[in-house]
Amino acid sequence: MPPPQSTPSPLPPEISPELESWAKAWFQDGQLDFPADFRWGTATSAHQVEGNNTLNQWWAFEQIPGAIWHGDRSGWACDWWRHAEPDLDQMAALHQNAHRLSVEWSRIEPQPGHFDHSALDRYREILGGLRDRGIEPLVTLHHFTNPLWLERRGGWEDGGVVALFRRFVETTVQALGDLCSFWCTINEPMVYVAQGWFLGQWPPQRSHFPTAMRVTRHLLFAHAEAYHAIHRIQPDAMVGYAKHVRLFQGLRPGHPLDRYAAGLKRWLFEHLWVAATGDGLLRPPLAGFERDPRLVGTRDYFGVNYYTQDRTRFTPNPLHLFGVEQFPPHVEQSEPGRHGRPFAAFAPEGLYQVCQELQRHAPGVPIYITENGVPDREDRLRPRWLVAHLQQLHRAIQDGCHVRGYYHWTLVDNFEWAEGWGLRFGLFALDPTTQERTPRPSAYLYREIARRNAVPRSLEVPPPRP
Ligand code: FCB
Repeated sequence: MPPPQSTPSPLPPEISPELESWAKAWFQDGQLDFPADFRWGTATSAHQVEGNNTLNQWWAFEQIPGAIWHGDRSGWACDWWRHAEPDLDQMAALHQNAHRLSVEWSRIEPQPGHFDHSALDRYREILGGLRDRGIEPLVTLHHFTNPLWLERRGGWEDGGVVALFRRFVETTVQALGDLCSFWCTINEPMVYVAQGWFLGQWPPQRSHFPTAMRVTRHLLFAHAEAYHAIHRIQPDAMVGYAKHVRLFQGLRPGHPLDRYAAGLKRWLFEHLWVAATGDGLLRPPLAGFERDPRLVGTRDYFGVNYYTQDRTRFTPNPLHLFGVEQFPPHVEQSEPGRHGRPFAAFAPEGLYQVCQELQRHAPGVPIYITENGVPDREDRLRPRWLVAHLQQLHRAIQDGCHVRGYYHWTLVDNFEWAEGWGLRFGLFALDPTTQERTPRPSAYLYREIARRNAVPRSLEVPPPRP
């Protein structure tokens, strides 16, 4: 049964005068101004918001009993395929000038080589709808999902995927290029690899390190081929990727084995990819330092997805790559996910550190925070986490980092992969059955931030909210 075709009205300014004044009260001690052309947005991905797409591997995975927490399914998700527009109105009401979304390969190319122009037309409507509202789109071309036909022919394990991805990207960019020139080739390649081929928790549920490295190489080459293909079509396009960064650090201060294990994780999870897209070198264990010229300089910007910092504790078990991650005690932690571990610990300074490191690594390459947020159904932590992270971003900009935009994850609660509907990241709460949206207090706060182009100077807790 499809949900009612609800058309939530934009957040009217008068909806909650108490929350309005609570949001303003954050600024009682002054504000930190952001650069004039700063981009304020939210981020989403196709499968998590569009709904009712049976053509990709995630839909198939959701049907397996036990695959998703509480047996949840994406279902109609946020119903964007039929009704994205009311949420675009909400973005405008929140004074957003940017939004990051993804296109779904399986809708655009439901059969190999057969492109569905009505799907591309729907994306044209959405992108046009964003532009009409003064919202600049950033489009991700791969955000964890694949057409079923691709999965059946070996997915990302088979080298043929590189040319297939390039063909999909070329068709998509040709069809949408007049509405978008800001592209993200691949979302969180190393999360995708770790979950699918190392931890085995996402499709295709494998735990095989050599295959994980092979998939990483294919993702790198697919990214590079897409990068060049887009530039051939749109010479002025901005093209990059969204890299999840966790800044692994030893858990016990001064413990050499913890430090070693954390260093190994940083090398595998963070450094291999970022370095390869700079100098083109495939470092071990990806390969033996071969250089592939296609990879060199294939990022016009860095997209950073930052949620938390990981602390690693040494374990002799090679299956865990000699380290297990845990959060230090006494640090504020978010809601737990399905395995009982909190999704994140409060570590906003990490955002400053990432910006500094990337700027040192590649001076002048602009940085966009392509995701940052916290699961928090009751919105107890989110307001302070939001402000604290943005204060660190402001500090990074003051210290010379070229940070150009921030995309909060996310606008409306959406289908959170294997955690299903268990983790709620939205500025708006969603009832997936009725499609009813309710603004959380943070929506007011983020609106005030975007409206002023500034964040509160202090983290002092403002007067209690209603
Ligand atoms: C990131 C993903 C995004 C969402 C957030 C919470 O790793 O890119 O789709 O799941 O985490």
